[in-house]
Amino acid sequence: MYSLWYLVAVVALLARTLDAANIIPISERCVTAVYTALNYISFVGEPTAGLWQTTCQNRLKVTSIYAASEVYCREDEILAGFTRLNNLCCDTANIELLSKHSVADNLTDERLRQMKIVDFQEVLRGELLDFPVLLSPTYYDRTFRTVVSTTQTSAS
Ligand SMILES: *[C@@H]1O[C@H](CO)[C@@H](O)[C@H](O)[C@H]1NC(C)=O
Repeated sequence: MYSLWYLVAVVALLARTLDAANIIPISERCVTAVYTALNYISFVGEPTAGLWQTTCQNRLKVTSIYAASEVYCREDEILAGFTRLNNLCCDTANIELLSKHSVADNLTDERLRQMKIVDFQEVLRGELLDFPVLLSPTYYDRTFRTVVSTTQTSAS
C-alpha cells in the first residue's frame, strides 16, 4: 500500500513538473502547433475573446483547428493532441472543447478543399473572420518549429 501511494505521489509530482517545464510530448505537438497558429487569427461568433474560450468554444476557430489537424497531423497525433486540448479546456477554462462531430458539416473533403488558406500575418490584427480557414503549409511549419524550439524534448 505504502509503495502504491508513493508511486502515485511521484507520478503526480512528475506530471506537474513536466507541465511546469512546458514539455509537450512529440505526439501532441502537431495539434498544439495548429491551435497555437490560430491564436493569431480572430473569428466572429461566441466567444470572440479569451485564449482558451475561443480555442475551445468558438465554432469557426475550432473548425479551423480540426481542419488543419486533418491536413497536417497523423491519426495518432490527432488522438493525442485533441486529448491534450480537451484536458486543457477543462482544466484551464472549465469548458469543453466543441466536438468534431458538432462541426462536422464544415469538415467534409469538399469544404476542406474550398477553405480559404491563410499565411502567417495575412490576416490583419483585429480583423474578425466570419468563416473557418485552413493554415498554409508554411504557416503550420513555422509554428510547429516554434512549438518545438520553445519546449524541451521528451520521449513520448
Ligand atoms: C459552418 O461554417 C459557417 C460559416 O462559414 C457557419 O455559419 C456555420 O455555423 C458552420 N456550421 C457548423 C455546423 O459549424
